[in-house]
Amino acid sequence: MINAVNYYAQNNAITQSDLQTKLLSACGTFAVSQDQNSCKNIVNNNIAKVYNNNPIPVQNACQTCQLIMTNAVNYYTQNNAITQSDLQTKLLSDCGTFAVSQDQNSCKSIVNKDFSKVYNDLKGGRNYGQICDDLNLCIAA
Ligand SMILES: *[C@@H]1O[C@H](CO)[C@@H](O)[C@H](O)[C@H]1NC(C)=O
Repeated sequence: MINAVNYYAQNNAITQSDLQTKLLSACGTFAVSQDQNSCKNIVNNNIAKVYNNNPIPVQNACQTCQLIMTNAVNYYTQNNAITQSDLQTKLLSDCGTFAVSQDQNSCKSIVNKDFSKVYNDLKGGRNYGQICDDLNLCIAA
């Protein structure tokens, strides 16, 4: 589910070499040159694996939030008696399905940060976009 949304939300036609170019260019934005070089090594050594698992390895926090909160809304819609802790457990498990560990970790910290707010938003009928705005992870239009 997360991957399906992910593919839909992102450019799933990106080629491996275009992805590699984008990631290497993102590495160039690190402040310290050792970090830039270590980032580039990671990209160059793992690009095939990353590309085969998921063409978009790094989502921003807003995208990650919207993907996981789409699941939250679905779970809550399916069972609005679900407890806060059961829902949180399901979402943390879903976070683990992201292909790239940075995205998994970012997802888990989003879910762990202020989950009572998320749960209250769901009870209030808010959608995934409103929830992520509420968490200050997306700039409202
Ligand atoms: C709904 O959620 C509650 C509490 O989390 C759980 O005990 C119950 O089994 C769930 N019902 C369904 C149909 O999944």
